[in-house]
Amino acid sequence: MLDKLKYNVGKIVETVNEAEDIKSFYIKVKMEETCPGQFTMVWLPGFEEIPLSPSLHEREILRLTVAAVGSTTRKMHELNVGDRIFIRGPYGRGFNINYKGKYLLIAGGYGAAPLIYALRKLREAGKHVAYAVGAKSSSKLLFVDEAKNLGAKVYVATDNGSRGFRGYVTEMVQEIIENYDNVLACGPEEMLYRVMEMCLKTNVKCQLSIERYIKCGIGICGSCALDPKGLLVCKDGPVFYAEELIGTDFGKYYTLPSGIKKPV
Ligand SMILES: Cc1cc2nc3c(=O)[nH]c(=O)nc-3n(C[C@H](O)[C@H](O)[C@H](O)COP(=O)(O)OP(=O)(O)OC[C@H]3O[C@@H](n4cnc5c(N)ncnc54)[C@H](O)[C@@H]3O)c2cc1C
Ligand code: FES
Repeated sequence: MLDKLKYNVGKIVETVNEAEDIKSFYIKVKMEETCPGQFTMVWLPGFEEIPLSPSLHEREILRLTVAAVGSTTRKMHELNVGDRIFIRGPYGRGFNINYKGKYLLIAGGYGAAPLIYALRKLREAGKHVAYAVGAKSSSKLLFVDEAKNLGAKVYVATDNGSRGFRGYVTEMVQEIIENYDNVLACGPEEMLYRVMEMCLKTNVKCQLSIERYIKCGIGICGSCALDPKGLLVCKDGPVFYAEELIGTDFGKYYTLPSGIKKPV
């Protein structure tokens, strides 16, 4: 168990501005192989330790794609090539990408991070993949070119219509979702809940990467529990099948670090 808490020291070898307030860090680090959808715990001394899902992991290079939303992620954005970062993991259950058939990947905001990693692996396995990505505006869209270069069919939605479909990514995919055998999705919880509803209605196999407040990351503290089933996001997830989430507080309540529940 203690071995699972061990930090690996990583060194930043490249940074890329991916979109407005979203940066990727290419980190040289010796760590266990990851599977798309699993997460790592990242620590910058003097700041919180936060969960981040790799957007790529090849040999000793791990890519983390980070949206600056608060103190730790803003501090991360100040890091440069040569800086060190402490990483433990990988943890949890990632996406199962071994199913037959066509895949539709639905990404909202920084939820694109684990999906572009899954997309790469799916394309390497010769699978047919479509990538539907949504953001508030075109300046916040992630990995459109990378997905095209990997050979995926790409659908783009922006809330303000600055690129592609005007509206939510969920509205954009509602007509096409039943043409696919598998859906993988990651993004804001309201978006994921809508994806879950559409997949259950159309009988499409659906895997959703969800967020809860992660403290230990290894199934000890209970901070990330989905009530009343007691599923642990850090251990049983963060990727869940739609059927597993039925009857939980997913889509309804989020538990704050204090233990208080807040409506989603
Ligand atoms: C499994 C998982 C994978 C994630 N992958 C990515 C990713 O690839 N890229 C990315 O940009 N973000 C990712 N996130 C979200 C990221 O962890 C938060 O944005 C980050 O923790 C914010 O920290 P902060 O100090 O900058 O902001 P804060 O101001 O502390 O918080 C901003 C928001 O982030 C949430 N948050 C803060 N700490 C945690 C925590 N320990 N666990 C869960 N949520 C937290 C808060 O509830 C709040 O809603 C992931 C979250 C989870 C649970
Ligand atoms: S974060 Fe501690 S049990 Fe999941």
